[in-house]
Amino acid sequence: MVHENGRADQPVALAITPTGDLHGASRHYEKKLCDMAGVYADESAWLAERAANGDDSLAYYVNEQKYQDGPGALIVGTSVLLSGSYGDEFAVTRGHLHGISDRAELYYCLSGRGVMLLETVDGDSSTIELTAGKAVNVPGQWIHRSVNVGSEPFVTMFCYSADAGQNYGIIADAGGMKNLVVRDDDGWKTAPNPRHTGYTVGMTP
Ligand code: NI
Repeated sequence: MVHENGRADQPVALAITPTGDLHGASRHYEKKLCDMAGVYADESAWLAERAANGDDSLAYYVNEQKYQDGPGALIVGTSVLLSGSYGDEFAVTRGHLHGISDRAELYYCLSGRGVMLLETVDGDSSTIELTAGKAVNVPGQWIHRSVNVGSEPFVTMFCYSADAGQNYGIIADAGGMKNLVVRDDDGWKTAPNPRHTGYTVGMTP
């Protein structure tokens, strides 16, 4: 198959470091603190962090490599989620359901300490703690979000179908995920999100 840039698909050698560098990446994007409006339950804590750190401060960034968009291809990447907390709530990625919702995703932890927070529209929920060398094979139909419960960047390698896409709206429309991951002495626990209004099936991404 010939790609839009005119080059035939070819196997690509990638080099992935424990800090999330991805040599061979075709895309890099960043989310800043100011991009996280409405994500944290304690909005005043988020605003205070913005004021203290500046709007340009990073929340997380992603490197990824993909050679085509079609079904059958894989996206491989790294996600680096900086540590922090907003009130009791630990730093998170925005989280999503895949646009093609049955698409699965592998997350393999390269460094740091985090939790994959997982929920279904039907009300199931799960948390998987990840440290270097641990992985979670996220089945389709699970909304997923990374949470950094440590003091270092939480770095994962991910891999999923290139046609999956991301539906971020399903979380925003529900007032956030059903559960929060919050501080608990030296560790973490889940707590109900008081703003969560339930997931609505069929909302557009
Ligand atoms: Ni995903």
